[in-house]
Amino acid sequence: MLDLDAEVLSDFYREVIAWAGALVPASPRIIDLGAGTGVGTLALARHLPTADLTAVDVDEAMLTHLRERAADAGLADRVHTVRADLDGEWPALGTADLVWASASMHHMTDPDRVLRQVHDILRPGGAFMITELDGFPRFLADSPDTALEERAHAELAAMRLEGGLHMGEDWGARLKSAGFTLEGERRFEISLPAPLPPKARHYAQVTLDRARQRLIDRLTPADVTALASLAASAPANPALTLHATRDIWIGRRP
Ligand SMILES: C[S@@+](CC[C@H](N)C(=O)[O-])C[C@H]1O[C@@H](n2cnc3c(N)ncnc32)[C@H](O)[C@@H]1O
Repeated sequence: MLDLDAEVLSDFYREVIAWAGALVPASPRIIDLGAGTGVGTLALARHLPTADLTAVDVDEAMLTHLRERAADAGLADRVHTVRADLDGEWPALGTADLVWASASMHHMTDPDRVLRQVHDILRPGGAFMITELDGFPRFLADSPDTALEERAHAELAAMRLEGGLHMGEDWGARLKSAGFTLEGERRFEISLPAPLPPKARHYAQVTLDRARQRLIDRLTPADVTALASLAASAPANPALTLHATRDIWIGRRP
């Protein structure tokens, strides 16, 4: 899903990677926290051909996938991986010019501690770029099923809160409290009109089906059945649209 998200929202990713590239000196050292499958790591490596990158994640399966993709892209010599639980003791990660955290800060048990640690590993003048999201994209706006999709989103948001995830945080304020200068803050409202390209319809199918699986005990049987049918028909549904929100904050270590 992470790889699919990057392919479908490619214009957004291009713009953000270019923004990140403008923040760093020549041949920067970059650390990607909660790198997942390496969407950010690999895009940054391609955009900055002399950058050295370290991807950190707690999930070895994610890092294995990332290493394979880096090798396939001929980037293995500049892309390194470190398995670490960022909620625990951090391994020595060295000094960075840019720390990148995309959709990972909300997972941290104690985000303020992580912010302080990032501050410590950045060289003076280095930047911390945080990307966060408000949930999965919406695909059923302006359709008879908008209300169903909103009910699903509301339940998923409630589950994230119950699970202790730090969604909807003011990361700008948290960056400032941790000693960063807030250099940038921007909301991206991403919309793709109907008819969506096949990749985006596939993303809709996966997203709606995943919502159905997670919400089996939290929505009515009729809503669960309707989600299943919308997921199954998504690849051939010309009326689907995509709406997603991404928020970015950039903190500088003075
Ligand atoms: C939603 S994914 C985002 C992945 C990637 N940054 C992206 O934008 O596609 C969140 C990632 O954070 C990782 N993660 C969550 N908690 C973590 C922790 N305590 N330490 C290290 N990584 C963690 C997960 O394993 C997952 O790969």
